[in-house]
Amino acid sequence: MHLAADIIARVSRRLADHAGLELPAWVVETRTVARCAALGCDGAAYVELISGARGLGELGKLVEAVRVGESSLFRHLPQISTLTDVVVPELRAKRRRQLAVWSAGCSTGQEPYTLAIVLARALPDVQLAITATDVSDEALADARANRYPTAALADVPAAYHDAFEVHDDHVAVVPELARLVRFEKRNLIERGMRARFDLVWCRNVLIYFSVDARRRALDHLIDATADDGYLFVGYSESLRDVPEVEPVRRGEAVYYTRRGLVAAPRAARTATPLAGVPTSRVRTPPAGVPIVPRVLVADSRIVLKGTPDAAALTSELGARLAEHHARVIVELDGADVLDASLVPELRRAAAAARAAGGQLVLRATRASTRSWLERQGLALEDAP
Ligand SMILES: C[S@@+](CC[C@H](N)C(=O)[O-])C[C@H]1O[C@@H](n2cnc3c(N)ncnc32)[C@H](O)[C@@H]1O
Repeated sequence: MHLAADIIARVSRRLADHAGLELPAWVVETRTVARCAALGCDGAAYVELISGARGLGELGKLVEAVRVGESSLFRHLPQISTLTDVVVPELRAKRRRQLAVWSAGCSTGQEPYTLAIVLARALPDVQLAITATDVSDEALADARANRYPTAALADVPAAYHDAFEVHDDHVAVVPELARLVRFEKRNLIERGMRARFDLVWCRNVLIYFSVDARRRALDHLIDATADDGYLFVGYSESLRDVPEVEPVRRGEAVYYTRRGLVAAPRAARTATPLAGVPTSRVRTPPAGVPIVPRVLVADSRIVLKGTPDAAALTSELGARLAEHHARVIVELDGADVLDASLVPELRRAAAAARAAGGQLVLRATRASTRSWLERQGLALEDAP
C-alpha cells in the first residue's frame, strides 16, 4: 500500500504540531502504512482519526513508531569529560549543596543514569536530583526497568564499572545511583517544566524537530535552565543562532551557559546600559532600535593593567557594548592584581552583551590568571 502525497503531508504536519517531529517522507509513509494495516483503515481515514481529540492515543502510537530512540551509556565521552573537567570544577567553586539536573528526551535512560554515575562520583557531598523526561511511554518503561544488555558495559570506562550490578544476562545501575533519577512523561514542545535546573541535557533530540518546534523547545529548555546553569545539546548540534546562550568553551559548540542572563523578549531586544554606569558615559542607541547580531560591528579589545578598578571597568564595558561591538574581549594577563570586585562587573557585562546579541570574552593565557577565573566561576575563552 502506498499513500498519496497529500496524506503523507497531513500526517507529517500532525506529527510536527504534536511532537515537533520533522521526518523524511518515506519514514512517515512506511510507519503510517503499518499503523493503517494494524487498524484496518486507509490513509484518509487514518488522517481523520489522528486529527481529532479521540485519536490522541493513536497519535501517541504513531510517535512511538517514527521516533528515533537511539542512546547509549556514556554516549560521546568528550562531552562527559567536559562535564567533569570544566563544569564540575565551576560547580565546586560555587560550593553547591544541591544540584538539579534535567535530561530532556532521555529515551531508555542511559543518559540520566550516566549523569547520576558521573556526578555522584565527582560531587560526593552534593545532593543530586535528576529528572529525566521523554514523550515516549515505551522508552520510559525501559528506562525505569534499568536493565541493559551486558554488552552495554563496553561503552562504560572501566573506572565506572563498579556503578553497575552484573547479572547473568544483563547489567543494571546500582540502586543507590538509579534512585537519584526520576522519570516523567513530557512533551518538550509543551511548556510545563516549572522547576529551574543547574544542568540541562537535551542531546540528539532537537535534530529531529522542525525549525519552529526546535525554537519552542529551546524556549522551554532555556527557561528551565538556572541563570548560572548549563545547557548541553548533542555534540553535532549547534546553538550559534540562539542569542540567549553562549558556548562555555570556544571550538566546542556542544554546551552552553546563560550565566546571569535574564531572558529578554526576543522581539524587543535593545541595548541596555550596564547597571551602575553613569548614563552620560554610555552612548545608547535610539530607543526601540532592535539590536541583532548582523548590525554589530567588529571586536573591541580592553587590556587590563596594574590593579584594574571595577567602576572604571564597568564604565568602559558599558561604552563599548553601547557601540554595538559584536564581541568585547577583555584581556586579563596584564593585570598585576585581580580583585574579586571585578567579578560581578564582568558577569553583568556578559549578561548585557548577550542581551544585546553580542558576547563578552575573557582571555588569559597565564596559569595564575586562568585559575583565578576558574575559582570565580567565570568562563574563559581559549586564546586563539
Ligand atoms: C535519539 S534519542 C536521544 C536520547 C539521549 N538524549 C541521547 O542522546 O542518548 C531522542 C529521544 O527524544 C525523544 N523525543 C522526541 N520528540 C520528543 C518530544 N516532543 N518531547 C520529548 N521527547 C521527545 C524520543 O522519544 C527519543 O527517546
